[in-house]
Amino acid sequence: MPVEQIRIFDTTLRDGEQAPGCSMTLREKLRVAKALAELNVDVIEAGFPVASPGDFESVQAIAEANFGPIICGLARCNAGDIEKVHAAVKAAQRHRIHVFVATSQIHREYKLKMAKEEIIKSAVGAISLARELCDDVEFSPEDASRTELGYLAEVVSAAIEAGATTVNVPDTVGYTVPAEFDQLFRYLKKHVTGIDDVTLSVHCHDDLGMAVANSLAAVAGGARQIECTINGIGERAGNCSLEEVVMALKTRSEFFELETGIDTTRLYPTSRLVSSITGMHVPRNKAIVGENAFAHEAGIHQHGMLQHASTYEIMRPVDVGISRSNLVLGKHSGRHAFRDRVSELGFELDDFETNRAFQEFKKLADRKKDVYDGDIEAIILNVDSLSPGPWLLQSLDVTTSTGKDASATVVLVGESDNQVSQSAEGDGPIAASFLALEKATGVDLTLQKFEVHSASIGEDAQGEVTVTVEHDGLNFRGHGANVDIVEAGARAYLEVINRVLRRRDSNAVPRSGSGDASHATI
Ligand code: KIV
Ligand code: ZN
Repeated sequence: MPVEQIRIFDTTLRDGEQAPGCSMTLREKLRVAKALAELNVDVIEAGFPVASPGDFESVQAIAEANFGPIICGLARCNAGDIEKVHAAVKAAQRHRIHVFVATSQIHREYKLKMAKEEIIKSAVGAISLARELCDDVEFSPEDASRTELGYLAEVVSAAIEAGATTVNVPDTVGYTVPAEFDQLFRYLKKHVTGIDDVTLSVHCHDDLGMAVANSLAAVAGGARQIECTINGIGERAGNCSLEEVVMALKTRSEFFELETGIDTTRLYPTSRLVSSITGMHVPRNKAIVGENAFAHEAGIHQHGMLQHASTYEIMRPVDVGISRSNLVLGKHSGRHAFRDRVSELGFELDDFETNRAFQEFKKLADRKKDVYDGDIEAIILNVDSLSPGPWLLQSLDVTTSTGKDASATVVLVGESDNQVSQSAEGDGPIAASFLALEKATGVDLTLQKFEVHSASIGEDAQGEVTVTVEHDGLNFRGHGANVDIVEAGARAYLEVINRVLRRRDSNAVPRSGSGDASHATI
């Protein structure tokens, strides 16, 4: 008998991107969408087009790129939202309109100030309109898990009758528990006419740390689509983590008797890409993609592993795309060896990106004897941010000594080979370098976050720096990687300065994850 399929609906670019500090630029969103397509997700929820012109533009660009999965956009139950979503997604060969309205008593009374019947009317009207524009329409009763069961069944019945092809049941505030959620799905299966003709979906938040468990319980109760995000990013404590739920279904396939179409060997590279772009680092002990997920420290475990890996390992690192090896590259390694290692690590670069990454690798190999997989990943993940200008960092000189201010001198080269040099003093080498960069370029920024992580092992490991700054009411994020963390920081800061200047030149319209300009990251 053929095994039933679970659809994976990825909302990293909508619910994930909406979380504070997770917003992405259009270029970054396209990079993530391409990675999601390579992972073979069924649906990409690309954004909430009505939230801002930037959101509309990025959903449209993802739809136009036609990477393969169904491209979906979110709308409230009104004509303006629905028409905007349709305009944004229609270029994708397969597209979906996702409409939602809250149904719980607390949302009805305090947020919507609407009666039960009005909500049903509004949902039915919205779904009917969406169906006139598109054959694929998803409906979500927001805060479904806190909605009276009888009323929820009524809303869902009306939604199906109006033409919804997928009905999604969100645990919006992460309140439910597995046994209860399983019962809720079974109740809907039993009491809603026509439910077997639509795809039943689940959407969980992780406020009580049960998003994955609740999603799996929903599957046991009849759900056949799971909404999730890479690394579980999302509002508050986040959403159901894609890599965890997919590997649970795969590893326990004899229990669930279900499968997904996900290429699990793409999980780790995709997780690294999203964490590098958003600056939301994955905890070391995070299931599936954390640094320690496959590390065995205890002697007794190591002994068992040496006898037979399955004593302590329920999944193989290669199954999730961790193909790390002890293989080390160095300054004598050629383009061929570099390119092979890049593809073994699960990255696909075009010729232009390969050339840029190889140049960076050569520079690094000159400074660092052994170049590990982590170093190569850091180069690749920063290849997008190897700044296209207008300013390039020619040199950085920093002096620091105990009890005194640090001083920094930067030399920058402009687009017409013009040079500018400035010096500044600051509390430490980072502050001094950042100030020198601001003086040299005439751009004032307010630093909000400075994060540094080690890309590989050893004293000469590269530091990966992410800076988040505020300028003109907008947030900008920049990345840099270098064996010298002060230089990595300066590169990240200069990337931000360049973005500010390019934006000034083009007078681009800012994007925003949820319609709030202060949340936008450029
Ligand atoms: O959490 C939620 O309820 C949502 C809906 C819009 C699906 O994100
Ligand atoms: Zn959500």
